[in-house]
Amino acid sequence: MTFGPSTSGLPGLGCETPPVNHFVSEARLPSPREGCPVNRELKFPDSDSATNQPGRAIATQAIPTRANASKASAAQANAAEHDGTPVGDPVIRVRGLRMSYGSGNGRADGARGVEALAGIDLELYRGEIFGFLGPNGAGKTTTVEILEGYRRPTAGEVSVLGVDPYQADRAWRSRIGVVLQESEPEAELTVEECVSLYAGYYPHPRPVLETLELVGLADRPKMRCGRLSGGQRRRLDVALALIGDPEVLFLDEPTTGFDPAARRSAWEVIASLQKLGKTIFLTTHYMEEAEQLADRIQVIVAGRIVAEGTPATLGGRNVQQTIVSFTLPPGISTVDLPPAAPWAVDGDKSGRIEAETTRPLPVLGALANWAQARQIDLPDLQVLRPTLEDIYLQLTQGTR
Ligand SMILES: Nc1ncnc2c1ncn2[C@@H]1O[C@H](COP(=O)(O)OP(=O)(O)OP(=O)(O)O)[C@@H](O)[C@H]1O
Ligand SMILES: [Mg+2]
Repeated sequence: MTFGPSTSGLPGLGCETPPVNHFVSEARLPSPREGCPVNRELKFPDSDSATNQPGRAIATQAIPTRANASKASAAQANAAEHDGTPVGDPVIRVRGLRMSYGSGNGRADGARGVEALAGIDLELYRGEIFGFLGPNGAGKTTTVEILEGYRRPTAGEVSVLGVDPYQADRAWRSRIGVVLQESEPEAELTVEECVSLYAGYYPHPRPVLETLELVGLADRPKMRCGRLSGGQRRRLDVALALIGDPEVLFLDEPTTGFDPAARRSAWEVIASLQKLGKTIFLTTHYMEEAEQLADRIQVIVAGRIVAEGTPATLGGRNVQQTIVSFTLPPGISTVDLPPAAPWAVDGDKSGRIEAETTRPLPVLGALANWAQARQIDLPDLQVLRPTLEDIYLQLTQGTR
């Protein structure tokens, strides 16, 4: 990252340290607002150059007008239509995307690099939350970075808001927001100064204090960024991604390090952004997060998409076996049980009786009749459907 000599010392911010950390590139920052003292001090190279660097981008329009909002909700209805199969033009469209690190140009020894993406397709529609799941090293961040315009793919077609991200200009960058998987705060700035600084880069930023409120940092605007805890820093990352009011948000593991309450608040924030018509690309290792938020999910393993669906249908979750289980009452033997299901003793769970079935209702009916006729109770009766995590583990098993 290069700053001109005039970048140290930021009038109005009371800070001697250049406020932009190494994750924020000049190429990816949007056009500074005219008259902003902060921005007059910063030197940015030509925004249309293709020298994209990692960065926290960027954003845009004010909160949607009523007309926009109704358009957004119509689009959102599109996104959620039927069983999660959206209609309309995609906001993000990817075809045959490949990415190899360390191969090709500049590799004199001809050695093969790491094939991070082996030809993936995906589409995101306006107003939907798209969950991108996969084990460590599967290619999620690589995909996100390509969609943000930071990385040039080895092959394939990529369109985000109708534009090839790697060739995109400032106007495009001002329409997306990013929470990077890793970031560093502007240590010497206070939270409010930092968010105000970023607000200055956007044509129509959100109000700073309202944004801090949104991410749960309103109670510490004067705290230095360098003193924030891990989870608080992550909230700041989210605030910085939101401050420009982007149309499309890339959230790469946005709640890592959050305590459970903070994670739930973040979910509310993300869900509220969807209500404003934002399109959200979310990667996460928290299956509950994906289940709560995502309209559609794709699972990537070793650079290939292995499954796609809604949280309810992914990997055939909706048609997988249900497990009915209970502890056998004293004096009752398995041979006494109604023949409605293949009852077996689960060796792992202190002798509980269980049966797998695709038709739990008749099994439960027979079991209830049987127990009532004998006047016995089954107080720890459980009916378990596969969780999203069960499905995810099935899909990704043996890939590590
Ligand atoms: N800059 C790089 N140079 C070389 N290889 C890289 C680079 N970045 C990522 N890789 C490799 O590409 C593959 C995909 O990495 P990526 O970061 O996209 O995975 P991920 O799905 O985001 O993983 P995680 O869940 O751990 O964040 C991995 O094998 C990784 O080692
Ligand atoms: Mg990653």
